[in-house]
Amino acid sequence: MTETEDDICLRISSPARMRNIGEKLGKMLEGGSLILLTGPLGSGKTTLTQGIAKGLQSRDVINSPTFTLLKEHTTGRIPLFHFDFYRVDDQSEVWSLGFADYFSGQGVCVIEWAERTPDIWGDEWLWISIEQTLHKERIARLRASGARSAMYAQKLKGGFR
Ligand SMILES: Nc1ncnc2c1ncn2[C@@H]1O[C@H](COP(=O)(O)OP(=O)(O)O)[C@@H](O)[C@H]1O
Ligand SMILES: [Mg+2]
Repeated sequence: MTETEDDICLRISSPARMRNIGEKLGKMLEGGSLILLTGPLGSGKTTLTQGIAKGLQSRDVINSPTFTLLKEHTTGRIPLFHFDFYRVDDQSEVWSLGFADYFSGQGVCVIEWAERTPDIWGDEWLWISIEQTLHKERIARLRASGARSAMYAQKLKGGFR
């Protein structure tokens, strides 16, 4: 397993910048990618996902799927499966709902509150953990497992100004 040596930290000064980072990521994503998002309520996980959807050329409106666990967006160049595990209490729920098939499938999966199900993620994922610092500032910490995800992280770092 290839892991990035150190976490990459990006300082993000506005929601627009957060969408921008998401869009950059969305443009490079290949089918089968797993993007795991962590951070408190209101930290920007859904805002980042809106950018990812745009980068995938999706025309859908992206909002928090809190009441459904999963929203499928199929108007982009690759299907986007947007999960929100805020209400998941036990990892077994996710297994019994059959979501594992999505995680090993051909779409892009973005999972908010991915830390609720730590044992599910296998060895190819990009983990983005978001912290709120000042009023509109966020720090996104990137950690990758697997060569492809490590490349996503490096490219995001490289394109970051
Ligand atoms: N730098 C920033 N990045 C992302 N969101 C920000 C930022 N600054 C302020 N916000 C605001 O914080 C909120 C984030 O909400 P959301 O993306 O739904 O969070 P989450 O999905 O993590 O609960 C939005 O109202 C957004 O406008
Ligand atoms: Mg959300």
